[in-house]
Amino acid sequence: MTHAAAAFEDAYGRPPEGVWHAPGRVNLIGEHTDYNDGLVLPLALPQGVSVAAARRDDGVLEVRSLQAAAAGHRVRVAELAPGAVAGWAAYPAGVAWALREHGVGGASLLIDSDLPQGAGLSSSAALECATALALCELYGAGPDRAELARLAQRAENEFVGVPCGIMDQSASLLCTAGHALLLDCRSGLSTQVPLALGEEWSLLVVDTRAPRALADGRYADRRAECEQAARLLGVAALRDVTDLPGALRALQAARRPRGLLRRSSGPDTAALQRRVRHVVTENHRVEAAVGLLRAGALGEVGALLTAAHLSLRDQFEVSWPQADTAVDAALRAGARGGRMVGGGFGGSVIVLTPADRAEAVRASIAAAYAERGWEAPAFLEAVPSPGARRLG
Ligand code: GLA
Repeated sequence: MTHAAAAFEDAYGRPPEGVWHAPGRVNLIGEHTDYNDGLVLPLALPQGVSVAAARRDDGVLEVRSLQAAAAGHRVRVAELAPGAVAGWAAYPAGVAWALREHGVGGASLLIDSDLPQGAGLSSSAALECATALALCELYGAGPDRAELARLAQRAENEFVGVPCGIMDQSASLLCTAGHALLLDCRSGLSTQVPLALGEEWSLLVVDTRAPRALADGRYADRRAECEQAARLLGVAALRDVTDLPGALRALQAARRPRGLLRRSSGPDTAALQRRVRHVVTENHRVEAAVGLLRAGALGEVGALLTAAHLSLRDQFEVSWPQADTAVDAALRAGARGGRMVGGGFGGSVIVLTPADRAEAVRASIAAAYAERGWEAPAFLEAVPSPGARRLG
């Protein structure tokens, strides 16, 4: 019996009907491209969120979490509405809300997680996806996994109020063991790309100990800048920019008007140029990484990771000091490449290193942290793992 199933029995005095698990993710490459209709290449982690669940016939959703101190939350599914539930419980409640029209009703849920929270490894998406799969299977609801990812995203956007893209939920639901998931965020089409680390390579996840929060507004600011740039360029999304120098010139020309209107504030075109440069080059880096992976040249992907980091740091301006320090220290110790992952402003870094350098890389990062008096970083191995599934 899983830990979650035993805890469910303790909490609710009856066995669950099943236990479902959804993984966290790291994104190999393709950051801040999902909401620009671009390409992403995430992989699922071994760690994730488990949900033990059973239906209830009184229309109530009851949620408890082994990671939360509070007793739990109870709410009638029929009364769910954006803003009605606060804190972590908003994530499972939002999923029940989004699935209402698919015939999903009341349930008792017991949640257990081995994903570090605030580390930028998508613990929220894992919670949403494990809940979504549990409720769909319990109620025989029909959405396929791609649609379920959109429903979970909708729950987060509209019910919780966080303006995330589609990457994290897609990764949690669609990834397979031994692969990264190439997702075209415009068409929704996805392809499994073999990611064989073998004995030779290690993909380290460094929790930089700078907790992040998507809800703090800076992520939303970046989204708004991308939308503004797309409007000024007359394209549906930055995905559609094919001529980067031309686009940068066009933005230059959109500078604040001269003369009488001098004092009216126009767009900060220099910042928009940097955002566009990042998104356009990042999509190319995803394509290049996929080509190299298919050619069996994993080591060459390292340089792309580092290029992505520099672009996120200097063009998109979402990196943070611990991430920059971790990447530098890893490269100095012989890693092939590394970069910040996720939305930015805190969270994790990934490092691709020959396995026989992994120990030296960890030590180098830890030493750089110690020198600065920062809380020691934590390390995980990113083993490309299966997507969400029923455990029992
Ligand atoms: C967060 C969001 C994703 C994506 C990344 C940046 O993880 O949840 O949708 O936008 O940031 O690539």
